[in-house]
Amino acid sequence: MAKFLGLGLTHYPLLAGTDAHMAGLLRWTLADPDIPADLRDSASWSPRMRAEWSDDGGVAAAAGHRATLVDNLARCRRALDEFRPDVLVVWGDDQYENFREEVVPPFCVLAYDDLQVPAFEVMNERGSPNAWGLPEDFTITLHGAADTSRTLASELIEAGFDMAYSYRRRAAAHFPHAILNTQLFLDYDNAGATLPYPIVPITVNCYGQHAIARKGGLARFADIRTERLDPVGPTPARCYDLGAAVVRALAATDLRVALIASSSWSHAFLVDKTWHLRPDTDADRRLYDAFVAGDTATWRAVTGAEIVDAGQHEMLNWFCLFGAVTELGLRRDWSTFVETDVFNSNKCFAVFSEETA
Ligand SMILES: [Fe+2]
Repeated sequence: MAKFLGLGLTHYPLLAGTDAHMAGLLRWTLADPDIPADLRDSASWSPRMRAEWSDDGGVAAAAGHRATLVDNLARCRRALDEFRPDVLVVWGDDQYENFREEVVPPFCVLAYDDLQVPAFEVMNERGSPNAWGLPEDFTITLHGAADTSRTLASELIEAGFDMAYSYRRRAAAHFPHAILNTQLFLDYDNAGATLPYPIVPITVNCYGQHAIARKGGLARFADIRTERLDPVGPTPARCYDLGAAVVRALAATDLRVALIASSSWSHAFLVDKTWHLRPDTDADRRLYDAFVAGDTATWRAVTGAEIVDAGQHEMLNWFCLFGAVTELGLRRDWSTFVETDVFNSNKCFAVFSEETA
């Protein structure tokens, strides 16, 4: 019988950059001329947002945010090492990376062998040095689990869950950051170079009606006014059901499987109602409280429209995890919720394990 561990963590791309760039998404947003000037003026911001932004554009606060995130990531890594997984199943968004205009699958198992992947392409393009002071062309080996991935896809399809699969990453595009950064950040001390565990990535079309329309998420309001929305992404309840189906499919194996939700919660750049200036912290807190309480009914009742309204697109990865750990009856050992106004997204971390007798 398989053994399971559940983890949730962030893949916040700007954590791979330096403190001077960590508020870069807000800085980009503040240059949008269609956002009312008084709202872009820090004098109108909440006390916390002003404190984080301070007089240095968030540079000092970035050090504190980084320390908190790295500490929580290390806690996840310790749980992972103690568990000694054979494989990591990672749910992560594809943000206009592997999947573009040709086809956008709701879910896709990436059945890849080991891959050499440039670690810092996103930060290089953003003009930020990487946090480790490594060369821009530094690459890491992402350990794949092609056979396990193929078998899992097959089992899911036989169980009635029509799963897409991919045998080759898209050429001339970033490797999906949700997967890459999971390895980078779980092995933060070594910039991802020494994480020994193979990964079964399952991409989730978290961006749904914005997958192509906003080409990865960031958009100016002038473009949003005329955007041609895509079909919606998979519903939160379907993602929850996928998580449950994945663990049922793996249960009969003898693998030690770490199940990982990879994403932050609401993203400021996706919250139109806050003019992309802040994440929807109230909506995040509501779901976090339900998460801690094991209130699956509240999560299953969330609609795709509510997810989009709150900029919680990437939380679909967490719906997969919540469905999986609930199906297994795993115990939530620990979780924490990190709030911020200037570093784009609130971040959640969690560890679930099997009850020991
Ligand atoms: Fe993401």
